[in-house]
Amino acid sequence: MAKNFDLVVIGAGPGGYIAAIRAAQLGMSVACVDDWSDEKGKPAPGGTCTNVGCIPSKALLQSSEHYEQAEKHFEDHGIEVKGLELKLDKLLGRKDKVVNENNQGILFLFKKNKVTYFHGRASFNAKVDAGWSIKVDGKDAEELVAKHVVVATGSSARQLPGVPFDEETILSNDGALRIGSVPKKLGVIGAGVIGLELGSVWRRLGAEVTILEGAPEFLAAADRDVAKEALSALTKQGLEIKLGAKVEEVKTSGKGVKVEYEDASGKEHKAEFDKLIVSIGRVPNTDGLGADTVGLKLDERGFVEVDDDCRTNLPNVWAVGDVVRGPMLAHKAEDEGVAVAERIAGQQPHVNFDTIPWVIYTSPEMAWVGKNEQELKKDGRDYRMGKFPFMANGRARALGDTTGFVKILADAKTDEVLGVHIVGPTASELIAEAVVIMEFRGAAEDIARICHAHPTLSEAMKEAALAVDKRALNF
Ligand code: NAI
Repeated sequence: MAKNFDLVVIGAGPGGYIAAIRAAQLGMSVACVDDWSDEKGKPAPGGTCTNVGCIPSKALLQSSEHYEQAEKHFEDHGIEVKGLELKLDKLLGRKDKVVNENNQGILFLFKKNKVTYFHGRASFNAKVDAGWSIKVDGKDAEELVAKHVVVATGSSARQLPGVPFDEETILSNDGALRIGSVPKKLGVIGAGVIGLELGSVWRRLGAEVTILEGAPEFLAAADRDVAKEALSALTKQGLEIKLGAKVEEVKTSGKGVKVEYEDASGKEHKAEFDKLIVSIGRVPNTDGLGADTVGLKLDERGFVEVDDDCRTNLPNVWAVGDVVRGPMLAHKAEDEGVAVAERIAGQQPHVNFDTIPWVIYTSPEMAWVGKNEQELKKDGRDYRMGKFPFMANGRARALGDTTGFVKILADAKTDEVLGVHIVGPTASELIAEAVVIMEFRGAAEDIARICHAHPTLSEAMKEAALAVDKRALNF
């Protein structure tokens, strides 16, 4: 017998599980279906973010940063380390534990909010009088019927044509998080967020890392100043980043992988690596969803087509997160999930796409929100720029990390903040203040007049705001 709900959410990643919780808070009866399992076959809700994305990568970034600090930088603080040793098994085990705690946390939240969780694969079955029939395949096969459905099935790593992931030698974000021994030579294709974060992890742990990036520019989406500063810092650390590299052939052999590519000047190269991470973007997950069965419309790239409010072409069927247009970011998915639940409940929420922050968790971190300088120039917008280097910040000096700066772009007439771009220590945390200011359509002067604790890195934000008016105090 079918089980009835007000809402069935397909997928328990950040878009899906958050939508389910918010809908339950609003009084709906909610089911959330997700088929992710851990290595023991146990339920592992949380999607890519929790299992093979944001969370495990941050665990590895933290561990590898500690290792690098101990190896190279403790000395500057007068701390001598003898017999430093990497226990990779333990390091990876800690990462798995962090992931598991997050899986368990979501299961706990489902219970707490009375969301019924099904461990299995969901697909559209049919339109029925009461709404939509959803089939759940898995250990406990079920039929669910709900008035509303939210599709939150996420995305998967895009493979290079003809080079499937085997997660042994050719690695996606998944395999790249569980390499059993530090490879001597690691190749990475794509210098985007995943390539840079995971390339940094394995470089810190001792691999010789070469990143082949197809585009002629480094991090085209970032402000040019941020990209330039980051490229210089990452290169200095030992990441070899080759821009404008055209990968022509990838061949695995018993020992590793051979990559043939043409460099920016047209010169041919043959490189050999022990492992190769392919991080060239992601594709939406709609296989096996039954989109055809019910006529759910996908666009030409396979994304579920939605309007600005995440409505699909089918009545009461919604879609959020990586499976729809927009940036593939966990926090964007969460905000869409909340908004959809509230819309179903008759509220009128709004997701502001102009203030979604971006973060890259390399060292230095990069974070930005709003427009960058090249975009403002292209738009012909009259703006003022204020920049403050961490070199001139007392806390950064005390920390021993003075890389980078905060850069604020504000409208020349109204002083409204149009974009904030940070490269440097804790950029991921500092960006929150910029998001708040932009959400409230605040001015650079507003930031400049807010009292910032001393000594903190956040003072660089205040000083950059002062610099917009050419009156920085400490630079
Ligand atoms: P990405 O879109 O960030 O970067 C892909 C890079 O690969 C681009 O620089 C592109 O020019 C390059 N590329 C594409 N095809 C290529 C080819 N054939 N040869 C050489 N280079 C090529 O994609 P990535 O790193 O795979 O990440 C996927 C998604 O995951 C992103 O949309 C990102 O938003 C999300 N993500 C976010 C993180 C964060 O917020 N910190 C961390 C990790 C992933």
